[in-house]
Amino acid sequence: MSQEPYSQKSYLRLGVNIDHVATIRNARGGNHPEPVKAALLAEQAGADGITAHLREDRRHIREADLKALKAEISVPLNLEMAATDEMVNIALATMPNAACFVPEKREEVTTEGGLDVVGMRVRLAPILATLKDAGIRLSLFIEANPDQLNAAADLGADIVELHTGRYCDLPAGAERDAEYARIVAAAKLTQSLGLECHAGHGLRVDNVAPIAALPEVVELNIGHFLIGESVMMGLQPAIIEMRRHMDEARA
Ligand code: PXP
Repeated sequence: MSQEPYSQKSYLRLGVNIDHVATIRNARGGNHPEPVKAALLAEQAGADGITAHLREDRRHIREADLKALKAEISVPLNLEMAATDEMVNIALATMPNAACFVPEKREEVTTEGGLDVVGMRVRLAPILATLKDAGIRLSLFIEANPDQLNAAADLGADIVELHTGRYCDLPAGAERDAEYARIVAAAKLTQSLGLECHAGHGLRVDNVAPIAALPEVVELNIGHFLIGESVMMGLQPAIIEMRRHMDEARA
């Protein structure tokens, strides 16, 4: 998700994750609401990219959604995926703009923790090479940890998405301040390693500003809050409201 026309250096892109539109659809087993329609609405409201996570258990997004997204959206598609052969084949068939590797456990309710790039180096290297050769940008979703960042750079990643979940979940106080300081340092290191810095997980209008204010961060990926707010105010107003908070923090 990092191509033109993003000419303004300070512009912070918003990737909208539409997984939970599929969660609602799947609750009734039919076709409504359609993730691709939500993606098109998000795009009209100013989303700079669309993110979807195809999980092994297909609990929300399915292959058919990826096909529809790829065919219909005009902004870049960011495919979140586990580092498995099955997902690599699907990524090659889908050809998203970027593949964001995330850790995945069947029993988790959402992506818990970042990818252990250090521990998975041997497994990741050939997978990343395959996707890179195909022209797909490589993103690794990791905790704000220098060892993981250095390993991501060594493996030839293009992008690091910093996991903001812990920062978002902690109550105000010393622990959250320390986690925020780790994210600040990691964002700087990401940039100095020549990697593009993204951030996401757990972001809402009431906690986005300190992350959006970091000049090294060029993209936020936000899902659950926006889809939840769309029940209250509509998807497009929710995106416009988030955009406003991001722009204000950036200014
Ligand atoms: N980034 C990554 C890599 C994720 O796995 C998720 C959750 O799917 C998000 C961002 C978005 O998190 P949230 O839904 O909490 O906004």
